[in-house]
Amino acid sequence: MRLHGTQVINQQGHLEIGGCDTVELASQFGTPLYIMDETHIRDICRQYHSSFVKGMENTEVIYASKAFLTLAMCRIIEEESLGLDVVSGGELYTALQADFAPEHICFHGNNKSREELLMAINVGVGRIVIDNFYEMSLLNDLAKEMNQQVNVLLRITPGIEAHTHEYIQTGQIDSKFGFTLSNGTADQALDLAFCYSNLEVKGLHAHIGSQIFELDSFRHEVQIMIKYMADTHVRTSCLLKELNLGGGFGIYYASGDEPAKISDYAETVKVALEEACQCKNFPCPKIVIEPGRSIVGTAGTTLYTIGSIKEIPGIRKYVAVDGGMADNPRPSLYQARYESILANRSNEEATESVSITGKCCESGDMLIWDIYLPKVNSGDLLAVTSTGAYNYSMSSNYNRLTRPGVVLVKDGQADVIVKRETHSDLLRNDVLPERLKPVKMASP
Ligand code: LLP
Repeated sequence: MRLHGTQVINQQGHLEIGGCDTVELASQFGTPLYIMDETHIRDICRQYHSSFVKGMENTEVIYASKAFLTLAMCRIIEEESLGLDVVSGGELYTALQADFAPEHICFHGNNKSREELLMAINVGVGRIVIDNFYEMSLLNDLAKEMNQQVNVLLRITPGIEAHTHEYIQTGQIDSKFGFTLSNGTADQALDLAFCYSNLEVKGLHAHIGSQIFELDSFRHEVQIMIKYMADTHVRTSCLLKELNLGGGFGIYYASGDEPAKISDYAETVKVALEEACQCKNFPCPKIVIEPGRSIVGTAGTTLYTIGSIKEIPGIRKYVAVDGGMADNPRPSLYQARYESILANRSNEEATESVSITGKCCESGDMLIWDIYLPKVNSGDLLAVTSTGAYNYSMSSNYNRLTRPGVVLVKDGQADVIVKRETHSDLLRNDVLPERLKPVKMASP
């Protein structure tokens, strides 16, 4: 069990995050509860900033907001001088409502709608990443109608199979994203894009997947993309000056995960870039990276209350918590592994192996298989760590569970940044047609 960021075990044997006792957080805000460690988020942003922006010339770090996005998160990201990657009108709207500077927003997605593109052009986002031919012509038409020049990158599928779960691989040839490099589609896309009058092609984008540990995958990505940019220069005499390498840097969830340091990742990119540019005699482009998970993943903890406990002698002890796949679908989607700690008895020795299950009506609603904990009782508080990325953002109301609230903790202060949903929130968009309204029985 590894502690992250400002997590400590205090004198009462309670887990403390951001100077806040999680037992008190549970009684103040209820469970399940997402807790985000602001100091840790800022610390990681600064590591990215110093390794990439200060450590290399002409570099930008933009946060992939799909990992975790709220108004407060937008403010933190802007205060830490990072840009923002959005993939939908909803993410863009959130950023704009938080007054995030549009010129530092990069808009992704493999099927952006007309309305989403209009919104992006209207507010003047910094970059739109074109994913396919349909979008390219639609975007040019819309930009023309609005008499605007739009700065774009083209998303290229470089043909890299990164070692990660197949659902979060994106760089391989058989991918729904981007223009395939190996079969000439990328060339065709570029040739076309250069002809469109209202598109300003600034460079290329690639993203090879997520939760990647091998720095070699990123090295390979740089080599392939620089070679392609240099070849494009020779072929078309157009000089592409920007390369967005996407995100994907892995984090620690559970034992066996061994992420490299952010500074090593930066060094790998830097060396690969210099070598590749030298080898192809190509001027170093501006490098942009888009980390999501690695900025917020270990900064998040989910706090649950343990309820029912079922022991099948000789087989397994199921310990059920008051959340589950609705607030964390990752174990059932990607077989993701997590660690956890008893928040109210963190200093006790782990003596028994249990499996943590949720409260959804699915046998697959398992959060953690076979984890060692002190002997647990109903009413104990369980903290699952590394839940900051793709938990809140992928949560659902399955079984009509209400989504947990999110509190941001820092220096002993806890602020609600997303309110816990109530039952009436569940009915917010329900409409009961007149003909289905219950008929009051006439009295006899
Ligand atoms: N840039 C692009 C274009 C992306 O598609 C993604 C993630 C990122 C950046 C950020 O990648 P990160 O640094 O977070 O690995 N729901 C999955 C992860 C899906 C990632 C989608 N794209 C999960 O829970 O593991």
